[in-house]
Amino acid sequence: MLLLLLLVFAVLVRGGAGEWGIGIRPEGEDPLLDCGLRSLALSFADAIAPSFAPNAHVFDALQLSGLCNASRPNGMKKASRRSKNGGGEFECVVYVDANATECANATCATVEEAVAESRACPTGAAKAVVLREGTHYLRATLVLDARDKGLTIAGEGAAVLSGGVEIKEWKKVGAVITANASGAVDSLWVNGRREIRARFPNGDPETMGLHTEGATGWIDGGGRWSDAKEESGDVQTAKVNDVRETPYYSGFEVTVGTTRYDPPYSFWGKTLRPTRLNASLKGVDDDDYEGMIVHAYHGKWWGGWQFEVVGNDGDFLVLQGGQQEARGEEVGQQYYLENHSSFLDDEREFFADANGALEYKPRANESVDTMVVSNLAELVRVEADGVTFRGLTLTQTRPTFLEAYRVPSGGDWSIHAGAAIVVVDVAGVTIEDCVFESLGGNAILLQGAVNNTVVSRSDFAWLGASGIVSLGTTSYDDGSTDDILGLMDLSRVPTNTKITACRFREIGAYEKQSSGVAMFLSSTATVVDSIFFNGPRAGLNINDGLGGHRIDRCLFFNWVRETKDHGPINTWDRQPYNRRLEENKDSDEKARRTIASAPSHISNCVIFGNYASEWPIDHDDGSAYYVDTDNTIIWGGAKNYEGYHKQTSGTLFVDVDLGAQGDRGCAMDDAYGAYDLFRNNTCVLKLESAKLYSSKVCDPDDLLDTMPTSANNSFFTLDNRTAIPCDAGVLPKKNPVAAAADWTLAEYQDHGMDLGSTAAPLPATEVLLAWVANKIMLTTTPAGSP
Ligand SMILES: *[C@@H]1O[C@H](CO)[C@@H](O)[C@H](O)[C@H]1NC(C)=O
Ligand SMILES: *[C@@H]1O[C@H](CO)[C@@H](O)[C@H](O)[C@H]1NC(C)=O
Ligand SMILES: *[C@@H]1O[C@H](CO)[C@@H](O)[C@H](O)[C@H]1NC(C)=O
Ligand SMILES: *[C@@H]1O[C@H](CO)[C@@H](O)[C@H](O)[C@H]1NC(C)=O
Ligand SMILES: *[C@@H]1O[C@H](CO)[C@@H](O)[C@H](O)[C@H]1NC(C)=O
Ligand SMILES: *[C@@H]1O[C@H](CO)[C@@H](O)[C@H](O)[C@H]1NC(C)=O
Ligand SMILES: *[C@@H]1O[C@H](CO)[C@@H](O)[C@H](O)[C@H]1NC(C)=O
Ligand SMILES: *[C@@H]1O[C@H](CO)[C@@H](O)[C@H](O)[C@H]1NC(C)=O
Ligand SMILES: *[C@@H]1O[C@H](CO)[C@@H](O)[C@H](O)[C@H]1NC(C)=O
Ligand SMILES: *[C@@H]1O[C@H](CO)[C@@H](O)[C@H](O)[C@H]1NC(C)=O
Ligand SMILES: *[C@@H]1O[C@H](CO)[C@@H](O)[C@H](O)[C@H]1NC(C)=O
Repeated sequence: MLLLLLLVFAVLVRGGAGEWGIGIRPEGEDPLLDCGLRSLALSFADAIAPSFAPNAHVFDALQLSGLCNASRPNGMKKASRRSKNGGGEFECVVYVDANATECANATCATVEEAVAESRACPTGAAKAVVLREGTHYLRATLVLDARDKGLTIAGEGAAVLSGGVEIKEWKKVGAVITANASGAVDSLWVNGRREIRARFPNGDPETMGLHTEGATGWIDGGGRWSDAKEESGDVQTAKVNDVRETPYYSGFEVTVGTTRYDPPYSFWGKTLRPTRLNASLKGVDDDDYEGMIVHAYHGKWWGGWQFEVVGNDGDFLVLQGGQQEARGEEVGQQYYLENHSSFLDDEREFFADANGALEYKPRANESVDTMVVSNLAELVRVEADGVTFRGLTLTQTRPTFLEAYRVPSGGDWSIHAGAAIVVVDVAGVTIEDCVFESLGGNAILLQGAVNNTVVSRSDFAWLGASGIVSLGTTSYDDGSTDDILGLMDLSRVPTNTKITACRFREIGAYEKQSSGVAMFLSSTATVVDSIFFNGPRAGLNINDGLGGHRIDRCLFFNWVRETKDHGPINTWDRQPYNRRLEENKDSDEKARRTIASAPSHISNCVIFGNYASEWPIDHDDGSAYYVDTDNTIIWGGAKNYEGYHKQTSGTLFVDVDLGAQGDRGCAMDDAYGAYDLFRNNTCVLKLESAKLYSSKVCDPDDLLDTMPTSANNSFFTLDNRTAIPCDAGVLPKKNPVAAAADWTLAEYQDHGMDLGSTAAPLPATEVLLAWVANKIMLTTTPAGSP
């Protein structure tokens, strides 16, 4: 059928790129300092993760060439790594060779057959399935069960495990290539590059968004959304905020019976999503909208949504969906439309109908050598202990943004419990020297009681959603509805996960509530020597307060590129749980009912608060028990919002007031002090009206109870100016009659606060860079080196 679609946008209104694109070098920053910091960040990256050094991707993402006139050093690696000798150390090896036709001489044609063969290895033998160089297409998700305990799946040479299906025949008719795929086509890779499902306006979701200069690929949607609805279902809501020490996050509730999520509960009550969008499409029958998808940013840019179009009404598209984050909102913001034949108008776009008839517009200057379409969402499910993946590239899964989502814990997220590798309730899984790239959804999911996982020296890039997702479960997820409206029981929790020397970049092409590493109901994770850059929201998100984590020697920059109100590291802790875990079985009711956090440590990291990042480490709503030490924090101060027991020490803050929340000083604390500590830090403030601290609850007559304990800090400001405003502005004062005060550091010290702290004029740029270099050198001495 010939469709006439009239798109009545005379001029495409861009999505306010200015608000997001500011961050690459904050206004007012000295280019020499900025470039010095970037070049130190590159050295830091090479020191912490030498397997990627010299790190061309970090060089490029820091814009060392464009902003700093640096030339890329010779020999910088961009290629994926190749592994040698895949089967060397094993007693029983089965090879996978795409050229084989059957299983013979310990060589099979497919991974599935090789795994089945390996089950005949002698019990207890060190066994491996080794993928020979080449691309191995899985026909179905590979499930490793108890029989595969201890199995290693390794690559030899450049071995690739793909979730796609190769298209062998196509025709070129004019400027269009046609082919017959056997089923639904969500993604297409041409010559190994992921192409673009036909969309309006045109744009590449991998490289364009609110942060890009010029076209963003998104239409301004302000005022176009309407008819917000709650999810249907017989919902019950209960407040669960009465069990924690103040100042906890208040007002928290659980809603049961929501149809938007599976399992059917949410911590955000009956949240709203718009159900109509005025996209001004005319001349199309109802039926023609079937399959069209709307991508949108959340109304406050706290994530993104996808909707399926289920009909139309005049100018309006009628929508269903929006489950891809948990907070909800009456309206959306910028949007684009996808998956309609009328949108197939640009090079690199494709469209496939329900029967798999595929049309693709190749680049005029390029020949088409290979075509692969999406098939699987998950490559491997690991349900066996001690499985290892080594030296493999895992790629070409389909996007999962229209699938079932759950609200895993009290943070803002909802999450689809799926990934390229899914590990469920097993121990001792190792993933090393792997490349996860061009995936439709998440890369790795650790679900339930997953103990002692190690992920090392692996690269995560061009992901539709997140890198590593660690997801604990509650009794309710397991089917028990007892006490759901009280506190949930934790049941199965990932523990002792170790992520070392990994690189997370180009995250969240489709899902804007996504991160390099995202943790939910998980404890005791270690993330060390890893590099995080280029993504729409936080690089690392901790959604709740189970704690006991250690984040050490990591680099973060270019986060919060497409959203707002967030930071490169983000934490929440809004929701207490019953902790009827084995370790607590004898503890009394009170201990059980508080979450009993072990502290989490964030140390020796280098974190840039650029793009729309507001707080380099955003300890948001209720976050508690964090020990942040010896970090280098550029363009932003410390944040303590609600919660308690947070400390910041030994940290070097560089030009905090050039960050998006500059007027809140070296540290903000809106939580009545709350056992918070700010000591032994060095804080450099660049602007004239430098404020050392800010607090919305500061009471001049009760400093000890309303401000954090601060001491032994070194402040550097223009002309020695130091202001400490104490004016409980927004939140209720402890002492409502107290007058506002605005002290210098010396006056603050006269009130017994910040003893041992000093203020001095701004250091010269080279001095400040030397401090940073010194800090980074101190923190990159490899453990155990002489
Ligand atoms: C880079 O080169 C341009 C043009 O030569 C110059 O204007 C700019 O100041 C240089 N930037 C740095 C950081 O050296
Ligand atoms: C498979 O066959 C092709 C063509 O004969 C050859 O180029 C390739 O090296 C072979 N692959 C392996 C792993 O032997
Ligand atoms: C298996 O090995 C035997 C002996 O080396 C050889 O004769 C046979 O052709 C091999 N079979 C295959 C399928 O490679
Ligand atoms: C796809 O199938 C249609 C109808 O069955 C046929 O006309 C067309 O030639 C096929 N295209 C290719 C590239 O095989
Ligand atoms: C839809 O938006 C267009 C502007 O793009 C406007 O002219 C039209 O009146 C709107 N339709 C309705 C029903 O609000
Ligand atoms: C995309 O559109 C095609 C054709 O209308 C439809 O068959 C397919 O289900 C749609 N894809 C999705 C993910 O909705
Ligand atoms: C083909 O053209 C595109 C722009 O449409 C350009 O980015 C690309 O580099 C060109 N490729 C080659 C091989 O010239
Ligand atoms: C995880 O494994 C360690 C041994 O490495 C063990 O001590 C611990 O009890 C295990 N934890 C759980 C929750 O199984
Ligand atoms: C203060 O921080 C410095 C590093 O900035 C560290 O060497 C020193 O041990 C710290 N002192 C205390 C008392 O924590
Ligand atoms: C500040 O430093 C002094 C001297 O090193 C030390 O005695 C004191 O405990 C420190 N204060 C805090 C709050 O750490
Ligand atoms: C800044 O303050 C320090 C005391 O904290 C003092 O020694 C120094 O002379 C002052 N410098 C200027 C430029 O006022």
